[in-house]
Amino acid sequence: MTSDPAAPLLLFDSGVGGLSVLGKVRAALPDAPVMYVSDNAGLPYGTKTEAQIAARVSGLLGRLTERFRPRLVCIACNTASTIALASVREVLEVPIVGTVPAIKPAAAMTRSGVIGLLGTEATIRQAYVDRLEAEFASDKRLLRHAAPELVAAAEAKLRGGPVDPAVFARAAAALRAMPDGAAIDTVVLACTHFSLLETELAAAFGPSVRFIDGSDGIARRIAYLTDGQTWARRDGEAGGDLALFTRGDPADAALMPALAAYGIDRRVMF
Ligand code: DGL
Repeated sequence: MTSDPAAPLLLFDSGVGGLSVLGKVRAALPDAPVMYVSDNAGLPYGTKTEAQIAARVSGLLGRLTERFRPRLVCIACNTASTIALASVREVLEVPIVGTVPAIKPAAAMTRSGVIGLLGTEATIRQAYVDRLEAEFASDKRLLRHAAPELVAAAEAKLRGGPVDPAVFARAAAALRAMPDGAAIDTVVLACTHFSLLETELAAAFGPSVRFIDGSDGIARRIAYLTDGQTWARRDGEAGGDLALFTRGDPADAALMPALAAYGIDRRVMF
């Protein structure tokens, strides 16, 4: 574990989704220096194979941790975490916090006993999710739906672009159309991108549905693991927090206001 107070927390996602986790981490640890990494060259992860995702995530995190010496890595992506968390933990020395579908809190929240889960195609087929369901929701009904178009919607929203409201209606309708779907009262946002769309999804599902994601638990876990450590976050032009992208895309300049809202004022290629 590093004792350098400027050593950052490194948050990793395929795109902007991890910002939903960063928001909670900021609230819990306002002085923590943060490095936000978007593997936009690999976006979307949700349509890739397990082997492709595992290779990208462990390769990139290996290079990033060697070069930037973070004090902790947060894989702020359900797809990457449910597939690669164990293997990444095996090879890296740094503490790793993953993001996994919030099935446990959802099971405690539901009154109807029917929980919806929105994730990527890759996430909803993972054995990791089967295990969470068996351990925490075996007496509930868990209905899973892959909504890849919500990933693109979140990317567009954060660039200030237009988002077709039909994508939210389609996600809600797909879960409602499943057997027992009408009784869903709790929806797990099992992709960090989707948490950036909670307002739109809430409008599509209506007032009887509550949403839950893993971000509060992650912020608590990171605060616990770094308890007692000192932080040196440098604000402003001298070097505020940094976002790293794996592909240079001029269109991503449109992301700067959204990044600034999360305390990130510089964007570089990795
Ligand atoms: N944000 C990612 C997640 O939490 C996935 C988005 C994607 O790349 O498909 O699952």
